[in-house]
Amino acid sequence: MSNILDGKQIAKDIREELRKEVAELKEKTGRVPGLAVVLVGEDPASATYVRMKGKACEQAGFLSRTHRLSETTSQRELLDLVNELNEDDEIHGILVQLPLPDGLDDQEVLKAINPEKDVDGFHPLNVGRLMTGDPYFVPCTPRGVIELLDRGNVEIKGKKAVVVGRSNIVGKPAALLLLQRHATVTICHSRTQDLPGVVREADIVVAAVGRPEMVRGDWIKEGAVVIDVGVNRVGEKKLVGDVAFDEAKDVASLITPVPGGVGPMTIAMLLQNTLEAFKNHG
Ligand code: GUN
Repeated sequence: MSNILDGKQIAKDIREELRKEVAELKEKTGRVPGLAVVLVGEDPASATYVRMKGKACEQAGFLSRTHRLSETTSQRELLDLVNELNEDDEIHGILVQLPLPDGLDDQEVLKAINPEKDVDGFHPLNVGRLMTGDPYFVPCTPRGVIELLDRGNVEIKGKKAVVVGRSNIVGKPAALLLLQRHATVTICHSRTQDLPGVVREADIVVAAVGRPEMVRGDWIKEGAVVIDVGVNRVGEKKLVGDVAFDEAKDVASLITPVPGGVGPMTIAMLLQNTLEAFKNHG
């Protein structure tokens, strides 16, 4: 049997479940969940992600609005747009694509989003709620990591989980979610001593550092589950993860590929969060 945890297929299944639920809600209430995505500037990777988010929304029957603002947008203009979206009854979720261009204060923008529309889970209130074990909106990529483990029938409780990377978007929230599910969690980073030795202890490895193929096959304990969050472009076209997939796949009991692992789950979880925002405040 294959040991590949197929995020692309799982995300597709989830999006189909969401599509059906949204169709039923529309039938009953005449309304659908709405997501507004704000893109500032011309970063090509961000533009691609934003396009994919809009397309996934439409396919699932959500209302999708994309606001594309120029590189020279001021902080005031961006805050005004966020406030407008906060007041818009058709919009249940607001996502400001990060990173913002230099000169804009992302924390101030994230704080301006109504926490009840914060489907990214980046508002300090939602960060705090995750920290205290009472999560409201959970960031989409870490939520996708947990969903992958659940749909892969991986037991989390009591297991040793090692998260490589401590970003606010992935590493820290992934560690908190694993902790909430009763894993014993270690967070590693660039100053960790004997990183291979620490990873070798793990039953579950979550790699989220953004360094191509940094985690080698001989760092993985036989039978461990490996979730690779990395998306690294090498050369013109090729994408690789943070894990050396060809080495690790022979050791792991389950492993996510890149592409086609965690990436598609992020968008599925964004739709899930938006549907939940709609149900809370439809
Ligand atoms: N940039 C990279 N990942 C994300 C994400 O999950 N949300 C937002 N808003 N920006 C990102």
